[in-house]
Amino acid sequence: MLNLRIPGPTPCPSPVLQAQTKPMINHRGKEFGEIITRVTAKLKELFQTQGDLLLLTASGTGAMETAVVNTLSPEDKVLALTNGVFGERFAQIAKIFGANVRRLDFPWGKAIDPAAVRAALASDVAIKAVLVVHNETSTGVTNDLETISAMVKEFEKLLLVDAISSIGAIALPVDSWRCDMVASAAQKGWMTPPGLAMVSVSHQAWEAIDQARMPRFYWDLTKAKNFLERAQTPWTPAVSTFYALDKALELMAQEGLSAIVARHERVGALTRKGVKELGLSLFAEEAFASNTVTAVAAPVGVEVGKLLRILREDYGVVLSGGQQSLEGKIFRIGHLGYIYEADIEEVLKALEKALTRVGFSGAKEARIPSA
Ligand SMILES: Cc1ncc(COP(=O)(O)O)c(C=O)c1O
Repeated sequence: MLNLRIPGPTPCPSPVLQAQTKPMINHRGKEFGEIITRVTAKLKELFQTQGDLLLLTASGTGAMETAVVNTLSPEDKVLALTNGVFGERFAQIAKIFGANVRRLDFPWGKAIDPAAVRAALASDVAIKAVLVVHNETSTGVTNDLETISAMVKEFEKLLLVDAISSIGAIALPVDSWRCDMVASAAQKGWMTPPGLAMVSVSHQAWEAIDQARMPRFYWDLTKAKNFLERAQTPWTPAVSTFYALDKALELMAQEGLSAIVARHERVGALTRKGVKELGLSLFAEEAFASNTVTAVAAPVGVEVGKLLRILREDYGVVLSGGQQSLEGKIFRIGHLGYIYEADIEEVLKALEKALTRVGFSGAKEARIPSA
């Protein structure tokens, strides 16, 4: 079996995979109603929210688009914080739907500076909402969302968060950090196959939704909320993914959120230590290094594609390369969801052997690439 260590889709425990093989049921019937009610309640606990939690048959990008089109109107001014591929994507979605996007860009590999966010908000009263990625999967950086949120709420703006690769694995108490919409997706920390995305919705977000005029149909959260009151979804849901998520959430409840977060902290620290001991350098600024994905700077002279091919074909370890401008410059080790220390030890052993085979001497010769 392959040791799949990309930052999603992530491996699933076998009871989760087995749950997915159950026969279809009527998605407007009692049995599905019980499942969606249970899954929603369990997700609300893990999101730590008393607000609404809505499930969408989508990948994570669908949840990002949902956040934008439900809360904003064309011409609304938004502040998009970017320090990687997914921050860029959030800004792009808002722009495509006609928002007036003001970008605040930070170097890839560095964290968003909350003081700069505060300064931007102080200088521009017209900003209505702030878009931010909690865990920037493309660079392995976890932004300081708690402090960013404090800045955003000082100015009483709407805070829309992509927490697709963080929540459920990295602490994100939605209500106490006053996040208005938080998006995630099943195939990340939730140990579930792809097919479902989830968004939390605060009271302030519902007020924005009532006013918002961006076009929306499939992603209309008012419809989703109305149908949830009848324990249904407006459109045919990914029933099999619901079965799987129901089982995964049962396993997560058994472990408990704080134990899950602590396990990701341990695994993240082990990955970073192991990578550095091999003579490699982290791409992300270490104080903000993510506990769900580690980005490693490609050593000088090492061809990332070849390294990943050897790892996959000869050692059964699947890692990710860099995206966009980081292609060939970094590789990424995913460690979220169904992940334990032994999985990372296996990755590190394979990496050591594969590095030797691509001619890496182990000297501290890794370079920190610029994006
Ligand atoms: C932070 C972040 N945002 C958005 C996405 C996009 O999610 P999807 O590919 O499920 O649409 C991902 C997926 O890798 C992600 O890690």
